[in-house]
Amino acid sequence: MKVAADAERLRSQGVDVVDFGAGEPDFPTPENIKQAAIRALDQNFTKYTAAGGTMELKQAICQRHREDFGTAYEPSECIVSVGGKHVIFNLTQAVVNPGDEVIIPVPYWVTYKDVVNYAGGKCVFVETDEAAGFQLSAALIEKHFTPKTRMVIMNSPSNPSGAVLDQAEFIKLFELCHARGVYLLTDECYCHFLYDSAPFSIASLPDAKKTVLVAGSLSKTYAMTGWRIGFALAPPALITAMNKLQSHSTSNPTSIAQKAAVEAMLGPQDSVRAMLAEYRKRRDFVVARLRQIPGVTCAEPRGAFYAYPNIGCALGRNGVQNTLQFAEKALNEARVAVVPGEAFGTHAHVRISYATSLKELARGLDRLHQLIAG
Ligand SMILES: Cc1ncc(COP(=O)(O)O)c(C=O)c1O
Repeated sequence: MKVAADAERLRSQGVDVVDFGAGEPDFPTPENIKQAAIRALDQNFTKYTAAGGTMELKQAICQRHREDFGTAYEPSECIVSVGGKHVIFNLTQAVVNPGDEVIIPVPYWVTYKDVVNYAGGKCVFVETDEAAGFQLSAALIEKHFTPKTRMVIMNSPSNPSGAVLDQAEFIKLFELCHARGVYLLTDECYCHFLYDSAPFSIASLPDAKKTVLVAGSLSKTYAMTGWRIGFALAPPALITAMNKLQSHSTSNPTSIAQKAAVEAMLGPQDSVRAMLAEYRKRRDFVVARLRQIPGVTCAEPRGAFYAYPNIGCALGRNGVQNTLQFAEKALNEARVAVVPGEAFGTHAHVRISYATSLKELARGLDRLHQLIAG
């Protein structure tokens, strides 16, 4: 947030900043989705809806998830919230009691830690193997189970590393959780952006419904970050608890955005494929270019739209001791915004979002090269 605020300040002063910070698609929301929102306005669909979302949208979400992943959820197992972040917040508050342990692989999306802390839970971090592309295995997680373990959070593909959990390992992880009655929260925010494997949801396993908690989001898949629509697929008792929480906090997600979301779920899906093809080109370019910078290594992201290079070679010199200081220097001297790895639980990395044009990527990476090697 600090880097984003500083970048914004520089930009407002007319400074030419290349922004690799933004965690959102640079594509506009597809036209058919925008038109659905315009129709909703024209038809005065502008009033309260049910707090947990309209029946129409819950049905559409269940249908989309069934078609994409072969699951079989009913609207009673679905809630629509104000973005995926809201879903993860509500799910965590509904599940985690003070003292409960929640297992979180490192590097992690920043929010997990804070929502677990807010619920009074204890985060148990599991290191992954950078040399193997930040790969995780069920065995690694298993070592961290205790009688207090309440939930495991999986984010595949991962923000920030782009790591994808192999299907066989995901199934083993599910079996470990299931056998212990531990919830497996699967954050499917980037599940459609996979470069070398087919879309997969652990919720499609026959026994998954009792312990798997799906947190879904339309933000990245349909370039709808500002619309704020996310959903959970979870056991009905948990959906009821989340509904209670939501009805006394935010109430319903915006009615117009819900209509747009129905179109996203049921309309043509070609925009998702087009975005993925573009991200793949950018991923290939960014990783190759980063690896040309002397001393920098970069694991190959297998999904999402982030690269997570190790810039440890630039630490401990020129007054830069940590990645926050590196990010500040990158912004102030090279005019490139990157997110420091400390935010994600590692100490030698920065996150580069390649949800920006190839031209911007080339410009920004030339500047970073100069900063690190110059
Ligand atoms: C891993 C991950 N999960 C969930 C979200 C939630 O996105 P939103 O609240 O926009 O749906 C994000 C957004 O950056 C994310 O990176």
